[in-house]
Amino acid sequence: MNDSSINRRHFLKQTGTAGIGLSVAGYLGSLTNLQAQGDSLAKKIGANDKISAAVIGTNGRGLAHVDCLTSLPGVEITHICDVDTRAIEKGIKETLKKQTNSPQREGDFRKILADKSIDVVTIATPDHWHTPLAILAMAAGKHVYVEKPCSQNPYEGELLLQAVQKYQTVVQMGAQRRSSPAMLDIIPQIHNGLIGKTYFAKGWYANARTTIGHGKPAPVPDWLNYELWQGPAPRQPFIDNLVPYNWHWRWKYGTGEALNNGTHEMDVARWALGVTWPTRVSSNGGRYAFQDDWETPDTQTISWDFPEGKTMSWEGRSCNDYPVEGKSRGTLIYGTEGTALLDGDNYIIWDKKKKIVKQLKSHEVVDPTNTISGSGADMDTAHVSNFIESVRGNQKLNCPISEGYVSVNNLHLGNIAWRVGRELNCDTSNGHILHDHDTMKLWRRKYESGWEPKV
Ligand SMILES: NC(=O)c1ccc[n+]([C@@H]2O[C@H](COP(=O)([O-])OP(=O)(O)OC[C@H]3O[C@@H](n4cnc5c(N)ncnc54)[C@H](O)[C@@H]3O)[C@@H](O)[C@H]2O)c1
Repeated sequence: MNDSSINRRHFLKQTGTAGIGLSVAGYLGSLTNLQAQGDSLAKKIGANDKISAAVIGTNGRGLAHVDCLTSLPGVEITHICDVDTRAIEKGIKETLKKQTNSPQREGDFRKILADKSIDVVTIATPDHWHTPLAILAMAAGKHVYVEKPCSQNPYEGELLLQAVQKYQTVVQMGAQRRSSPAMLDIIPQIHNGLIGKTYFAKGWYANARTTIGHGKPAPVPDWLNYELWQGPAPRQPFIDNLVPYNWHWRWKYGTGEALNNGTHEMDVARWALGVTWPTRVSSNGGRYAFQDDWETPDTQTISWDFPEGKTMSWEGRSCNDYPVEGKSRGTLIYGTEGTALLDGDNYIIWDKKKKIVKQLKSHEVVDPTNTISGSGADMDTAHVSNFIESVRGNQKLNCPISEGYVSVNNLHLGNIAWRVGRELNCDTSNGHILHDHDTMKLWRRKYESGWEPKV
């Protein structure tokens, strides 16, 4: 008997094929046993092999995953998984636009992980599920495309990196600008001195979101498995303004606009500047536009200084969409010899005299109010394709967790600085907060007992 069949038998014995009758804690516990052995259950996938995919979380962003996967040759979506039955139907409908076979409907991700026929999972659940679910999927031998932000807090980013190193499956973070042909063309040129020595980058995002009001206690709708929706988050009675989407603005589940959209622009900024961990981070702002249940800032600035003598700043305006440079979102990079405007699929390069020296305009219009693909569908498909081709061993990942988690943790630091209301000094070897024990408490969150992610 070969190793993989032993592993498979072990896995099925530990989990029960369908997970039926097992408590979630028991299930997570059995995966932890598996993890302790460091087994890899990943099936070998060849350069031209057909790939079976499950999309997990299909209310909003998951539909873009469906669109991308059904555009790629040799990929079949075999399962649509969500804890909301209405979202499952959305996912099925979207899949059938471009695929003949209907995927199976699944309400419980544990059955997806136990199903050996599934090679890859894509995760577009709320943020509080990203790291825990990605780690469980890796432990079950799946290759994973996990939406940005790859973690809900900095501790999880480090844990996710450890898991990638341990399980050796292919894990891409959904920061699609990393696969934009425009960015892949211009950023190496910036590194090679196109605008001289770079020293400052500014990213922004502007939208016109309205109030989420005040939630009222309500019965859990019959279309929702609220227990599995909450998962690792401490239990809270259901309220009527939480799902879908408005969890984004609550610290228990989401990460605010800084991680929701800032991840994109500041990942590009960090990539272009060539910096990693900051020396200091500060943040200002508040919930100014409306008084309601929204806990994260709707107006926020974050500033980072880096040891290389470089600075980045982010401006997020969730409720006033007046553009910057005529654009709802973008990144400006300033150098000693010129300036670069990087906007996903587009760029403009000016010299010191403000003359345009290079420009690329895509046909796509960026719409920040489109919560499924606000950034442009071409980059999305390129990024998912890069993931699939990396699974097949034909390409290298454009946004592995080792890169993605650094950008995400930099933004988490910004949110921590905002939450404690003071500047943070950081260890430039790992981004940890120095000399501030109280603040380090926000490095991680509280978990529902038995649901803590583990590697
Ligand atoms: N890369 C991008 O450009 C981009 C764009 C939009 C959203 N996103 C990210 O995608 C994620 C999802 O955002 P959204 O706007 O679609 O949120 P949403 O609330 O609209 O959808 C999330 C879905 O996940 C489901 N879900 C929750 N827990 C689950 C579980 N345990 N198993 C299966 N399904 C579960 C929910 O029922 C819901 O249908 C977020 O993390 C967001 O940051 C990325």
